[in-house]
Amino acid sequence: MRRPRRFSQLFCILLAVAAALPAQALDSEKAKEIYGPCAACHGEFGAGGKKGEYPRLAGQSAKYMEQQLKAFQSQLRVNLPMYPYTKERELPDEDMKLVSDYLAQIVLPTRQPVFKDSDDALTRLLAMEKVMILPRAEGDIDHGKTVYQKECAACHGRTGKGRGGMFPMLVGQYTVYLKKQIDAYLKADRPHDEEAADQGVLYTLSASDLRDILAYLTTIQEVEP
Ligand code: HEC
Ligand code: HEC
Repeated sequence: MRRPRRFSQLFCILLAVAAALPAQALDSEKAKEIYGPCAACHGEFGAGGKKGEYPRLAGQSAKYMEQQLKAFQSQLRVNLPMYPYTKERELPDEDMKLVSDYLAQIVLPTRQPVFKDSDDALTRLLAMEKVMILPRAEGDIDHGKTVYQKECAACHGRTGKGRGGMFPMLVGQYTVYLKKQIDAYLKADRPHDEEAADQGVLYTLSASDLRDILAYLTTIQEVEP
């Protein structure tokens, strides 16, 4: 009867080791594997692409992204390029969570990196590729600031970095993409928040208010949260 006992001792040790590991440790190898086909559009570091046709995902709220993947899957949010990648066979719920957690923790610097003499060409190239600085958008920045802080900051955060998981980051996201989403909300193609589709703050603003908000957002990319 010695063998089973040894086995159960070993099993107990393994259990203890497993319990000692941080519960939330991100399996980034698995996450990277899931992210593989996504990178073709959203970029290797989740910086998005084609000047905003593909949104930035790096640093976006994990909960929000997970919820959007479900929305693409159920076609509550209709998008032809995204839909096939969210079909259950391709992306089960646990993979949606894992890939969202992985993308959320990627930091894209908003300043050019400072290199050490010892940094080789590849290190420099990779660091440069991660830098995300959006071009300034046109508009009345002061007016945009006033409207943003009054109408949007309560949910999207004072510095535009999002809040509380469900409210996405807007700052650092392509202007073209944000504009497209605002248009989709105004056409009731996508639900903006819990209010009825044709109500809510976006409907109370003029086109120039919205343009000014987007201009203002491109000026606060370096503000710390
Ligand atoms: C063929 C190109 C393509 C591929 C591949 C792709 N996406 Fe997308 N994705 C898009 C486009 C386009 C949008 C923007 C949709 C829109 O304009 O509403 C988007 C939007 C998203 C959003 C919403 C972002 C936001 O701010 O609301 C998430 C999250 C996302 N994709 C995650 C993924 C993940 C994870 C994968 C891989 C499993 C993936 N995408 C693969 C094209 C793609
Ligand atoms: C009451 C809370 C609330 C307020 C106020 C609010 N938003 Fe939002 N916003 C949300 C939520 C929630 C979402 C995500 C909706 C979804 O699930 O599609 C969102 C999403 C967005 C998106 C899409 C982001 C993406 O990555 O696709 C844009 C653009 C946006 N909001 C702009 C604005 C602007 C501009 C204002 C101010 C005029 C504003 N919002 C005010 C709650 C709010």
